Amino acid sequence: MQWTKVLGLGLGAAALLGLGIILGHFAIPKKANSLAPQDLDLEILETVMGQLDAHRIRENLRELSREPHLASSPRDEDLVQLLLQRWKDPESGLDSAEASTYEVLLSFPSQEQPNVVDIVGPTGGIIHSCHRTEENVTGEQGGPDVVQPYAAYAPSGTPQGLLVYANRGAEEDFKELQTQGIKLEGTIALTRYGGVGRGAKAVNAAKHGVAGVLVYTDPADINDGLSSPDETFPNSWYLPPSGVERGSYYEYFGDPLTPYLPAVPSSFRVDLANVSGFPPIPTQPIGFQDARDLLCNLNGTLAPATWQGALGCHYRLGPGFRPDGDFPADSQVNVSVYNRLELRNSSNVLGIIRGAVEPDRYVLYGNHRDSWVHGAVDPSSGTAVLLELSRVLGTLLKKGTWRPRRSIVFASWGAEEFGLIGSTEFTEEFFNKLQERTVAYINVDISVFANATLRVQGTPPVQSVVFSATKEIRSPGPGDLSIYDNWIRYFNRSSPVYGLVPSLGSLGAGSDYAPFVHFLGISSMDIAYTYDRSKTSARIYPTYHTAFDTFDYVDKFLDPGFSSHQAVARTAGSVILRLSDSFFLPLKVSDYSETLRSFLQAAQQDLGALLEQHSISLGPLVTAVEKFEAEAAALGQRISTLQKGSPDPLQVRMLNDQLMLLERTFLNPRAFPEERYYSHVLWAPRTGSVVTFPGLSNACSRARDTASGSEAWAEVQRQLSIVVTALEGAAATLRPVADL
Ligand SMILES: *[C@@H]1O[C@H](CO)[C@@H](O)[C@H](O)[C@H]1NC(C)=O
Ligand SMILES: *[C@@H]1O[C@H](CO)[C@@H](O)[C@H](O)[C@H]1NC(C)=O
Ligand SMILES: *[C@@H]1O[C@H](CO)[C@@H](O)[C@H](O)[C@H]1NC(C)=O
Ligand SMILES: *[C@@H]1O[C@H](CO)[C@@H](O)[C@H](O)[C@H]1NC(C)=O
Ligand SMILES: *[C@@H]1O[C@H](CO)[C@@H](O)[C@H](O)[C@H]1NC(C)=O
Ligand SMILES: *[C@@H]1O[C@H](CO)[C@@H](O)[C@H](O)[C@H]1NC(C)=O
Ligand SMILES: *[C@@H]1O[C@H](CO)[C@@H](O)[C@H](O)[C@H]1NC(C)=O
Ligand SMILES: [Zn+2]
Repeated sequence: MQWTKVLGLGLGAAALLGLGIILGHFAIPKKANSLAPQDLDLEILETVMGQLDAHRIRENLRELSREPHLASSPRDEDLVQLLLQRWKDPESGLDSAEASTYEVLLSFPSQEQPNVVDIVGPTGGIIHSCHRTEENVTGEQGGPDVVQPYAAYAPSGTPQGLLVYANRGAEEDFKELQTQGIKLEGTIALTRYGGVGRGAKAVNAAKHGVAGVLVYTDPADINDGLSSPDETFPNSWYLPPSGVERGSYYEYFGDPLTPYLPAVPSSFRVDLANVSGFPPIPTQPIGFQDARDLLCNLNGTLAPATWQGALGCHYRLGPGFRPDGDFPADSQVNVSVYNRLELRNSSNVLGIIRGAVEPDRYVLYGNHRDSWVHGAVDPSSGTAVLLELSRVLGTLLKKGTWRPRRSIVFASWGAEEFGLIGSTEFTEEFFNKLQERTVAYINVDISVFANATLRVQGTPPVQSVVFSATKEIRSPGPGDLSIYDNWIRYFNRSSPVYGLVPSLGSLGAGSDYAPFVHFLGISSMDIAYTYDRSKTSARIYPTYHTAFDTFDYVDKFLDPGFSSHQAVARTAGSVILRLSDSFFLPLKVSDYSETLRSFLQAAQQDLGALLEQHSISLGPLVTAVEKFEAEAAALGQRISTLQKGSPDPLQVRMLNDQLMLLERTFLNPRAFPEERYYSHVLWAPRTGSVVTFPGLSNACSRARDTASGSEAWAEVQRQLSIVVTALEGAAATLRPVADL
């Protein structure tokens, strides 16, 4: 009904115009204005900024986090319905909304046979057991839907052995234990979160013959050293002693059975025996009160200073317990894991606002919906913002006040916590369509880690739109600063082009933006409010992935008043409007020049001599970077010139396509055959220490100690050619379209 109204208005205007022409155009000179192309409307922007309501975000969060909503659980499905209902609301909904389902492989602990960690005495009896659940501190930790802490995708098994302490479970940590003469075969390794990824701890341990892995969160890493109940939640924002970080230990992302294919019923599925990327040995996370019982009773030599933590004792390496401790010296630790793999239906919800002028250009905005437990922060703080944004935009839409130039697609992804599954399956199913039509992807997962400052990760073309947006929004907290001016106080860098600016982080694979940037090559960003690093060293907000991540936790400690949530909503809202409504796309491709230049300089300074020794020239790379810089600058010039006149919309569309497609030119699906999905040659994972093109950095670090003519040096040359070809291709895309 509202749609017909918009159409009706349009026809009316056309009729008037027709009449004007018949009457002679002097009769209605002002109507000429209606021929101006639809562009960003600052009044609409102001209205949206004003209507984004902190109180409503708070109420959204209360509802979203009322019950645990683990992926594919009944409550997760209830939230699918809640989203559909909001997005189909006649007063504040979108043009259309629907859920779509994938059948994916998830991992759960057994209900009947909980995972247990026991200390087994010399005669085989259990003399001590770790807690199986978190303490029911606020009454929300003891509910039937609180999933027991577990390491998703860790295999079942019941290893038992002497305990060793392996710091963060990095390869170098196990090497250190070996150097110390500790026999690792058949042991249980106690590790702490941080340093390397979850799954990597088990992979590294297994390489050394370790039979089982325990993972805990040290109060030094999460609680600024504090560990007693009166210093932790609900008395502060710190993690209670029984809190346990759950998480996926899968090494890749996407549904494990259907790599590169959507997990629809008809798709080919890999044989379970052939799935790679699961942890090789049983693994179980525990809380630091349990870790203290284990670690503070270890025998053996003192662990290195950097391995010490805040459990209030000297950490030793083991193996086994000390004779004068709480347990008999030859006691062992038994880790019994009964996790099960299960096929489950997991839903994405998509809501669409059709663009008025360029409906075939999409601005995508998304967050996951599934949590580990109540997930007030992760992910509901983001979903609460998503719902408020869609309400405000939906209301303007239904009133007939506004319709964007381009289409806006809102997404609520399923099963992110298990490995970005819903978003990855979506990118697999609609690979071509999304690549051809998506202008940018905006991700707001955890919207508020803490209330000090904005933090943005993204590819260079999004920098300028985020800057434009944040300069116009007041920052919460004391003083009269813009979000931009507050942000620059916490994260800044000196740009050769702009001087001191806020610094954007780069995108790894921590949330649903990963398939969009790495697999599809879509310019992407992730937006949140975060810490003042001078006030805390917590590696993430302390109750992350525990049963203490609740509404009250956010309401009392993270963001009382919800002004940081509102700041994120305004930032994301302004970015969405600018991307969907601006006549010229606000993607500044020349901002890639700085990145390329700094990668090139690092390659010249830190790899130049080595490459020269092996007769490899960086000359073609220098030429390619220079060409890119020149073409990006020239395109910027053409846009400024056009902006001064009244350009033909078709001409602008051609330029906008160049801006949109630039990110795509950096993809090479053959660049990293050992990686899954990663194909963006500038942002693939870097293991080499030189901060340059990742393929080049990694290849050089592998080739360094091999002879010229080795396969490793051939790979360096291949990687160099891949980068040169990508940059030449990027420059060609930016060139005037009639030139080849
Ligand atoms: C946790 O506390 C709540 C409120 O006090 C109570 O209703 C619930 O039964 C408790 N759960 C367990 C497992 O003790
Ligand atoms: C560990 O404990 C489980 C359960 O009690 C038991 O079945 C298993 O045999 C034990 N593991 C070893 C290696 O003894
Ligand atoms: C599993 O992988 C092996 C080795 O790649 C292959 O020979 C075998 O056919 C695969 N099995 C299935 C069922 O796909
Ligand atoms: C405890 O460790 C010391 C050396 O650090 C070793 O000499 C001793 O044998 C160990 N005791 C037991 C019971 O493992
Ligand atoms: C997923 O849903 C489809 C269609 O409703 C159903 O046929 C299938 O059995 C479901 N799969 C699982 C694992 O529940
Ligand atoms: C963040 O929250 C704390 C605790 O409520 C408050 O003291 C502080 O002023 C807030 N900071 C900002 C920047 O809003
Ligand atoms: C830049 O950031 C650092 C912290 O990384 C901060 O100490 C400094 O004051 C900031 N500079 C400005 C001008 O705000
Ligand atoms: Zn999340």
